[in-house]
Amino acid sequence: DAPGADPRAIAQEAAKVIAEKTGVARHDIALTLGSGWGQAAESIGELVTEFPAHEVPGFSKPALAGHTGMIKSIRLASGGHALIIGARTHFYEGHGVRRVVHSVRTAAATGAKIMVLTNGAGGLNPDWQPGTPVLIRDHINLTAASPLEGATFVDLTDLYSQRLRTAVQELEPLDEGVYVQFRGPHYETPAEVKMAGIIGGDIVGMSTALEAIAAREAGMEILGLSLITNPAAGISATPLNHEEVIEAGRAAETRLADLLARIVKEIA
Ligand code: 6GU
Repeated sequence: DAPGADPRAIAQEAAKVIAEKTGVARHDIALTLGSGWGQAAESIGELVTEFPAHEVPGFSKPALAGHTGMIKSIRLASGGHALIIGARTHFYEGHGVRRVVHSVRTAAATGAKIMVLTNGAGGLNPDWQPGTPVLIRDHINLTAASPLEGATFVDLTDLYSQRLRTAVQELEPLDEGVYVQFRGPHYETPAEVKMAGIIGGDIVGMSTALEAIAAREAGMEILGLSLITNPAAGISATPLNHEEVIEAGRAAETRLADLLARIVKEIA
């Protein structure tokens, strides 16, 4: 990014392009779909328009297979609209935090009041089989980075909205956990996973926490959902394998799409 370019101004530009492409003046809720959650869009409502994210200012082409890279506008049964962001820039790609949180700032600029962040992640609880969805209750950010720059002292109490978690729990009882964001792209060592547990973590991943901070700064209410794709290192004896992580996501996709559709119907 050009130094000095205002990230909120770029997000405003992106939102303008999305409004032009979709013909939808404002979106009410936005969802970022991580590994395993990609099929959700069409179950949530009726597709208005879809286009590759890189056609929108500030979005880059996806680096990973399994990350579709499409933005979709969905008309909900309630008459409102959901913005689905199927593209995620990870911190480990090295483009800086501004790029990581651009989608969240863009979602806020389209008018979205609720940001649903989903991901595929490793589990510390040995009872969580691959394919288990878990509600994020709070996070620990181990990236040593922040999307905020300068003296922006944002409060992060109730970051993952109790109101939204209660709404989901009434719909479908899910386990809750504290998400620990590591930088990646390597998976953690067993010692790091053990540390994550000792400091209060339940889920390990490489996204979401930085995005949640930017969403809070933008004034959005946040819902976080992790799909446990595998036990974290040292929790199970088998070494982690990226293909197996992607495969566990694929296997859960239909079920998660149905869950997310019911959640959106309830909260949007
Ligand atoms: Cl074990 N760790 C991290 N950081 N991300 C993951 C994961 C583990 N499994 C899926 N995504």
